[in-house]
Amino acid sequence: MKILVVGSGGREHALVWKISQSPQVEKIYCAPGNGGIAGLAECVGIKADNIEALLDFALQEKIDLTVVGPEVSLALGIVDLFQSKGLKIFGPSKAASRLEASKIFAKNIMKKYNIPTAEFEIFSDYGKAIEFVRVKNKPQVIKADGLCAGKGVFVCSTLEEQEAALKEIMQDKAFGIAGATVLIEEMLVGEEASILAVSDGENVIVLDSSQDHKRIFDDDQGPNTGGMGAYSPAPVVTKGVLEQIKKEVIIPLIKGMKEEGCFYSGILYAGIMLTVTGPKVLEFNVRFGDPETQAVLPRLKGDIVEIMNKTLEQKLSEVNIEWDPRACVCVVIASGGYPGDYEKGKVISGLDSAEKEADIVIFHAGTKKDGDTILTSGGRVLGVTGLGASVTEAIEKTYVVVDNIQFDRIYFRRDIGKKALARIT
Ligand code: AMP
Ligand code: GLY
Repeated sequence: MKILVVGSGGREHALVWKISQSPQVEKIYCAPGNGGIAGLAECVGIKADNIEALLDFALQEKIDLTVVGPEVSLALGIVDLFQSKGLKIFGPSKAASRLEASKIFAKNIMKKYNIPTAEFEIFSDYGKAIEFVRVKNKPQVIKADGLCAGKGVFVCSTLEEQEAALKEIMQDKAFGIAGATVLIEEMLVGEEASILAVSDGENVIVLDSSQDHKRIFDDDQGPNTGGMGAYSPAPVVTKGVLEQIKKEVIIPLIKGMKEEGCFYSGILYAGIMLTVTGPKVLEFNVRFGDPETQAVLPRLKGDIVEIMNKTLEQKLSEVNIEWDPRACVCVVIASGGYPGDYEKGKVISGLDSAEKEADIVIFHAGTKKDGDTILTSGGRVLGVTGLGASVTEAIEKTYVVVDNIQFDRIYFRRDIGKKALARIT
């Protein structure tokens, strides 16, 4: 099979890496890819939002299966477009992708199908939104409705913060049309976990749990990022909790989407807050998580292409997924300054020896190949990923490798996996 993977981050490197292990695959393309992906796939200079050019490429190269990483392509309708030309593509339709592209669509589905989530109100009038937060005068989370590249959520403890967030979204229009309507949500308290599931529209397989580390600094301090590290499994998600999430969240959602005429096929990502009154949904994403995928896929046994093919044939009931019982930790190495301004083009050293370590994989995110040299080219640069018999061992092994990689103004968190350690000791 010839496979096309769409995207350019660490998640896509992990997907390409896992797909490359399938005996069914002869050739992998990645659009646009990155410096690390280039070692496993032919990188094609088409961006993820140029879905017409991706279609032309897939038709021309007779691609057998396309796998989509980022939400932007899905929200633009890449699945509908490819399917209209008879091409096989793994992911949800444009209508189903509204689960991520519109937070209000997702909330209304959750409300209708009794899926546990934070209480919420919807506003498209700035004055009414301000009046609401003033009357409530309690911690709230304010969210722009549409896609904002992970920047449209404001967790606000004080009224001042809430007023500033509403002004930024609704008056200053920081996110354009994506912020024309806002959600104001009750602030949930608890530990977060990421649950990925695969569905063919009827059947569901819930993957092993993981946990992201969203803030830039240790101990979850500082601004939000795209994710500074992940580990899998997350001990906070016991077997019982995972079963509860499947029963109360994933299955009702897939059934509800079908009833809405939005058949859901592909990966569903549920961001969950584990509260004292049970798991509640923070958000749905319609794709693999980044960096969760980097920590989950190394533990997935078997052929991922087979899972994707069975999904597209609506025969997921025939699939039985097995897991490597070891723990996996992914530490993201970033450019100093991220998530604010940062410099690019720094030479990365130490990669060759790092890649030779047993049970270590280095997933590239923002890198570029320049001859034999690998240069930084983004905020999140690498995801050093290690497997260990215990999470303690996985953390130790991974950080030994992280410490041997260098570039000017390198930055990473020192505490990836710390929450898991607290639960097992
Ligand atoms: P979202 O993109 O909706 O998942 O929000 C991004 C992050 O904001 C989440 O991972 C949480 O850390 C936080 N967050 C979102 N909604 C809430 C909520 N209702 N209560 C507390 N924290 C939240
Ligand atoms: N790790 C968060 C996300 O993929 O949206």
